[in-house]
Amino acid sequence: MVAVDTIVDEIEALKQNRRAMILAHHYQEAEIQEIADSIGDSLELARVAQRFEGDVIAFCGVKFMAETAKVVNPTRVVVLPDLNAGCSLVDSCPAPAVHAYKKRNPDHVVVSYINTSVEVKAESDILCTSRNAVAVVNSIPASRHVLFLPDVNLGNWVKKQTGRENMTIWQGACIVHATFPGRRLAAARSEHPQAVVAAHPECPGDVLRQADFIGSTSAIIDWCAKQPQDEFIIMTESGVRYSLEKQSPGKKFYFVANENCNCSECPYMKMNTLEKLRDCLQTLQPRIELPPEIIERARIPLDRMLALK
Ligand code: 13P
Ligand code: SF4
Repeated sequence: MVAVDTIVDEIEALKQNRRAMILAHHYQEAEIQEIADSIGDSLELARVAQRFEGDVIAFCGVKFMAETAKVVNPTRVVVLPDLNAGCSLVDSCPAPAVHAYKKRNPDHVVVSYINTSVEVKAESDILCTSRNAVAVVNSIPASRHVLFLPDVNLGNWVKKQTGRENMTIWQGACIVHATFPGRRLAAARSEHPQAVVAAHPECPGDVLRQADFIGSTSAIIDWCAKQPQDEFIIMTESGVRYSLEKQSPGKKFYFVANENCNCSECPYMKMNTLEKLRDCLQTLQPRIELPPEIIERARIPLDRMLALK
């Protein structure tokens, strides 16, 4: 087996030769985050990808995130260490089903979570992430009916935050967050009575009701750093531990296992490895290739979202 240091050196050399940038989502393995040029939530990474002026974006995240990078910056080569790094939310929402819904309801405004395929993005009026979903829905005139897709928990939370009645919510779910049980969180709270709770809005309602803070991965990390408390129960994927401990040295973070894998890891995010990252920088494969017509159509709702502050 090749030593980690050797692979890291190889990646650094390839990065220079390829004029490449490595982006990593907070759910990546710590050793990948260590070597990344930028770490962030899905919105932050989309913005960094949009501004990139080099040649190659190596996207350490899942496929919909790499596709987003390609849409916002189509002349760059975008590689993903493992093309099978998917997302259960993407799988829950096929583009033909969205197309058929639009035919039946031509007056509805389609708000799509960024966790969708590029084909679904192309069917959408505006996109959102967990960071800006409330602001995006609030930007739509109250008289318009909204179809929010595909995450049911995020949709229910946004509906509550915005007080919006005329909103249809798709019934998709994240295999990691949607299977965090409220009773396991309640048990963790009894075990750590000093701890405060931060949760991602993809968690079910009985988890969100117990949370002191609800936000995107980066928002959770920033919030924990600002709090006076020293102990936190974190209801999201455990990869965030890397930035939590960096930004909040000395504080304690507890994770709750879900009922899907009895862990708090996203199996798709964890498909990427340092070896696969090195290989994709070497071969520029697997590469995100999208038809120009799809890029053009998906770009419109993406730009609408990025234009919002
Ligand atoms: P963020 O937008 O908070 O990074 O979340 C993306 C995601 O896939 C959560 O499961
Ligand atoms: Fe998709 Fe859930 Fe994994 Fe996020 S954690 S990438 S929503 S499966």
